[in-house]
Amino acid sequence: MKKGKKIYEGKAKILYETDKPDLVIQDFKDDATAFDATKKGSIKDKGVINNEISCALFQLLESKGIPTHFVKKLSDREMLVKKVDIILVEVTMRNISAGGLSKLLGIEEGIVLKSPVLEYHYKKDSLHDPLINDDHIELLGLATAKEMKKVKDYSSSINEILKDFFNKCGLKLVDFKLEFGRHKGRLLLADEISPDTCRLWDKKTNEKLDKDRFRRDLGKIEEAYQEVLKRIKS
Ligand code: TMP
Ligand code: ASP
Repeated sequence: MKKGKKIYEGKAKILYETDKPDLVIQDFKDDATAFDATKKGSIKDKGVINNEISCALFQLLESKGIPTHFVKKLSDREMLVKKVDIILVEVTMRNISAGGLSKLLGIEEGIVLKSPVLEYHYKKDSLHDPLINDDHIELLGLATAKEMKKVKDYSSSINEILKDFFNKCGLKLVDFKLEFGRHKGRLLLADEISPDTCRLWDKKTNEKLDKDRFRRDLGKIEEAYQEVLKRIKS
């Protein structure tokens, strides 16, 4: 697959054209940012680890009937994906209170939620990704009601599949963020699924094994990412 010119550079990944107009290369960087990129750093081999974890999870989800942008792993840091028109809605699913939910509602972290909590955030850095609802999505024309119904159904299924998978790896899936896109008229799960975009706690000790170690300066960041990869692979 020929790597063409750079299409887009985000905070954690770069997208490149290929010789096929409907396929792009997603290249994972070691760069890490938090709080709208006001905190910047680098996590050794994060790109390699997140590419491998994302490839494994997209394959798992595809095998369970969730359509994703994943085509194949190309190299340590590169994944071949279907080119999508990203829907500017970040979907957050929560099983245990933490982070933004604790802040929003003034509740402590670590409370097991009676049922999963779904949130939408408008993907717009200049507005700090505000919390939005279906009416806001319709008002802004970000997606159709039909698309959002699918987004909701897929997100619930993905939560069940990933919760079960991580549980078998000795990890609690606290919460995670998903992005969807349109490809040839179809809705596909896109972006990545990794310790950057999920909160993962050790089942026995509740040790944080995700990007919160970077966000909160908890140390042993690389080790946490490596540990998640090790558990997924075993
Ligand atoms: P939050 O509690 O800060 O809203 O984060 C919820 C989940 O979304 C958490 O698993 C981390 C992930 N996330 C991202 O992937 N990108 C982001 O920009 C933010 C703020 C959170
Ligand atoms: N990556 C996001 C940013 O830099 C935030 C985060 O993941 O916490 O804005």
